[in-house]
Amino acid sequence: MLTTTLVSAAALCVVLQVTLFFRRQWRARRIREWVQAQRRIASFQYADSPEIDERLRLRAVENRRLKAAFGIDNSLTTSSPSTHKRFLQTSNGLLSGKGRSWEQLYRRAETFLKQETQDRARLPLAQTVRCMVLAVVLSDSFGVDPASIPRRDLVTVTEEINKQWMLSKCDPDGLAPSALLNATIASISRHMAPQVVARHGEGAPEEVLGLLMPQYETLWRVVLLTFATAYHHQPAAHPDAVQRTADVPACLGDPAREKEALKLAKEGLRLYPSNKHLYRAHAPSHASNLSSNPNPKPKSAPPLAADISTLHRHPSIWGPDALAFRPARFDGTSLTELQREAYVPFSVRPHRCPAGAGNGFGELMVLVLVCALGRGWWVADGEGSDGGVGLETDGDSEGFPGIEVREVRFEVRYEDLTLGRQVKVPMNGNAGEGCRGSSGHAGNPATKIGQLPTRTTPTWCSPRTFFRAHQLHQDGMAAIVRDDVSAPLATVRKTSSAMLCRLTLGALAAASVAKASFDRNLAYSSPSRRHPSLAVPLTHVSKRQTGDMFTPAEVNFTHGVASGDPYDDSVILWTRLSPTADSVASDMVPEGVVPIYDDAEGAPPSSKAACLEFKIGTDEALTNVVDQGRAYTTSDVDYTAKFEAGGLQPFTTYYYQFNVCDSDKASPLGRTKTIPAKTQKVDKNIRLAVYSCSNYPAGYFNAYGNPARKDSVDYVLHLGDYMYEYEPDSSLPDRNPSPNRETYSLYDYRARLGSYRTDADLQLSHGRFAWIPVWDDHEVANNAWRNGSSNSSGDDFRRRKQAAVRAYFEWMPLRQADLDDSLRIWRGFAFGTLFDLAMLDTRNYDRDLTVLNGLAGIGGNSAEVEKQVGWQNRTIMGFAQEAWLYGQLRESSARGAAWRVIGNQVIFSRMTLGILPGQLDKPFNRDQWDGYLANRDRVYRCLDEGRINNTVMLSGDSHASWVSDLAWLGERDYDEDTGRGAFGVELAGTAVTSSSPVGSTPKFAANLLSQWLVGQNPELQWQDLFYRGYFEMSIGYDAMHATFYGIPDVKKRSADEVVVARFQINNGENRLARNPTVGGGRAKSGALKNGRVDLF
Ligand code: HEM
Repeated sequence: MLTTTLVSAAALCVVLQVTLFFRRQWRARRIREWVQAQRRIASFQYADSPEIDERLRLRAVENRRLKAAFGIDNSLTTSSPSTHKRFLQTSNGLLSGKGRSWEQLYRRAETFLKQETQDRARLPLAQTVRCMVLAVVLSDSFGVDPASIPRRDLVTVTEEINKQWMLSKCDPDGLAPSALLNATIASISRHMAPQVVARHGEGAPEEVLGLLMPQYETLWRVVLLTFATAYHHQPAAHPDAVQRTADVPACLGDPAREKEALKLAKEGLRLYPSNKHLYRAHAPSHASNLSSNPNPKPKSAPPLAADISTLHRHPSIWGPDALAFRPARFDGTSLTELQREAYVPFSVRPHRCPAGAGNGFGELMVLVLVCALGRGWWVADGEGSDGGVGLETDGDSEGFPGIEVREVRFEVRYEDLTLGRQVKVPMNGNAGEGCRGSSGHAGNPATKIGQLPTRTTPTWCSPRTFFRAHQLHQDGMAAIVRDDVSAPLATVRKTSSAMLCRLTLGALAAASVAKASFDRNLAYSSPSRRHPSLAVPLTHVSKRQTGDMFTPAEVNFTHGVASGDPYDDSVILWTRLSPTADSVASDMVPEGVVPIYDDAEGAPPSSKAACLEFKIGTDEALTNVVDQGRAYTTSDVDYTAKFEAGGLQPFTTYYYQFNVCDSDKASPLGRTKTIPAKTQKVDKNIRLAVYSCSNYPAGYFNAYGNPARKDSVDYVLHLGDYMYEYEPDSSLPDRNPSPNRETYSLYDYRARLGSYRTDADLQLSHGRFAWIPVWDDHEVANNAWRNGSSNSSGDDFRRRKQAAVRAYFEWMPLRQADLDDSLRIWRGFAFGTLFDLAMLDTRNYDRDLTVLNGLAGIGGNSAEVEKQVGWQNRTIMGFAQEAWLYGQLRESSARGAAWRVIGNQVIFSRMTLGILPGQLDKPFNRDQWDGYLANRDRVYRCLDEGRINNTVMLSGDSHASWVSDLAWLGERDYDEDTGRGAFGVELAGTAVTSSSPVGSTPKFAANLLSQWLVGQNPELQWQDLFYRGYFEMSIGYDAMHATFYGIPDVKKRSADEVVVARFQINNGENRLARNPTVGGGRAKSGALKNGRVDLF
């Protein structure tokens, strides 16, 4: 019995062993076959060894999305053998790179990174890596000096490429190349080295992109992920990963040492192959060649895809540590034959990437860039973040002190061949854990090989993923890293012992004045808490405080109250509680931080604080209080105070008041209103008063007071020139503001704003309505652009702008739109489903050179501007803002908001006098959108291509009124009588007080000139030069109305006003309503197309 049992057991064991053996054999065969099948797809053998033109076609069909998204025609997208040949030759030429110094490329990357980290406390990792890779590739292939490329151009290019890439995956149909991308590439191309231009010609942007894409787009993800893994996730598990590169860049050029270091790149290219799949179209005969695909698919089948990432990651090929980052696997002869076959980061012949063929370019580039990152951004003292080991450097590169990488989270995936689904392996923290976790996952996929997939559809892209990635990206935190980074939070934070020390001291000091709450006062973080030279460091302020407080008797609410930037649940409340009506002389902050300006004039800085409280409630008596708080203000912020009042209900009126802490010394009562919630249907028209150009010496601000007296609007928009910087020269004795000179210093701007805010009508308006303001040039200096103004440039201008921006944020009730972008004032508001409002900065943010002096191409620098006006890369807004605006418009239209209102500074429509030499229709004022033609075209293109309706542009700046249909002249037919062909309407208002372009010309004479202008400009329907004033809008779902008010005399304070003209815009018409002609055929002043105007 026992013998029988033993024999049976032995037999069973043998059977089992044999079964297992055969099963292993079977599995090994299956996996080999599968690898072969993938290679056959990559090499086009599945299609019976087709000729070159057929191979190109099979690839081009699947890459057509790249053609659509980027307009490129390169090796990867063309079906033409001659284009392919030409392109390969050019690529090989770039790769051969005679005279290339790898060490120099390393240094370029290092310099770039050092600059990036210089003034910034926090870096978006993915964005920085993308920009670095682009800068280095541009310098290597095109001889572009990275220092000559503005950083924003790098950001624009990389972001646009990313965006187009994502869109092409999600929505390839109907996708057009990005005009913004092309314009920026064109701008960068101007910095190409002359020998490159001589060799390749200047190259259209699409051609440059065609050459750039195979390099940049393949490199940056590999570089980012290899860096993050090698230096921050896995060093403890595999110290060799980093040590092998310890002598980079010195080893470059020495084949033996270089080979060691290159294993880091090889392992990076294994785990993070840039092309996770190589897509090919079905060929009629392919089925017979694919053992695992017995059923030919119909034409609509998903494309074939050689699954490179699974080839590189599957545990049956690479062993149980397949997902570990272990460069040692490339040591000596340790790769198995199967692994060698499966490792194809540069594809396989006959279309192997030229960067992987023999010259080692791809691997070297990855190595150099990863090492530049790693050695700069890794704590080299044995305590790398995430428990990494120390890096022994050769002493020539110190790393960048105080940089710490935080929150790099992503996961690696591979196809579980058994389950036919993806297995995700989180790589947070110590990657060793991630890998250990994976080995037991889903029944250990390494041990099972079932059916082998031969085609894969892209699984990662759904509109939701895209949206999420996009959202995160908007937050400035995201790495949109396709596929491998699914939790794309990657930032680099900069800390230093000095900073830590300051923080600790600050905290201690703050504790000593424990009851003081400075940080509720947002004035301290304006314009940017993240930029210490602009905001006031709270630690410093609190440290200086002696605990002495101003008594209620010592302080006053001299400048009234204000509210602004309403959201559906919060609003900004402003006041100033000061012991002095004057402004503070210096922005000197305690602890010896270098004062930017120090002015003998004005009130001296003080170590005493003033304490104030606010209350906001639903009734005038403030019995039903919804939010309240207290904070301190000091001389550091010119005694201004800004609170964000929260917990409010949408589209609701509130009352608010400030008082000196624990006293009944109170400010005037203010009234404000939240906006409707984004999805809310608005049950009554929303009314706005729209202003621009209030020059204090020119007259009284009656226009501000009238809507408050009539109580005729809900909110106030200000389009800029809220104040003027000029030396005062008023004929009215009480209208000369402080200081008695042109403003340059911080004191000057503060004092000027303070003087303006004593105007009774301005105070009335601020106290009754929530304002949404943007600046134009005079808040800084006349005809300002990115780097200068009419009478200041260089350092002078920079300091002036810095002072002006800081004072503006202190004194105006607006939010800091982006803490990482101190100059950003452009921002959006959603007024329920009725309209979206985009407030632009076409002036100070990033405007290219404008006309500083002179007009109509004559005088000053206008000849230079005249040369530039047609440049494709010219921008009035800066590319970041452009991208934002186009996104806002598309999003607004997609969400179904009835109207899109754009608050902008300068006139958008073309304006010609029709009398200029050369061309009759030449515009006369290049300081408005007429000087930025490509930017205007891009706006029109966005409206046109996105089929965006009901857009209304609001403009100021000109001191006159201009009402036009938005006509894309030269591109689309437009009928001036019916308005057919227009894209919307422009409402440009006159000044509150600033004088007319024709001075005090009598009305009949001014109207003659208006008539001439209306006659010369088909889209211009009404024009008036005579009146100062403002306009009101009443916005409903079916129609929008605009009423233009004229102030008969600004030289005296009065409530008098006249209705000068009225207009209607009907939903869906995209033009001014003709009832029966524009403006009802009647206006009080100016000139009205097809209408009558009162003589007096
Ligand atoms: C790490 C860097 C790189 C990687 C991982 C990589 C990867 C690849 C892969 C996988 C392909 C095959 C695509 C397919 O057939 O669908 C390819 C093709 C190609 N790559 Fe690269 N590439 C890199 C860098 C470069 C660079 C620097 C250049 C040019 C300067 C370049 C130019 C090309 C060209 C022209 C082709 C098409 C080859 C042909 O049609 O025969 N690549 N690359």
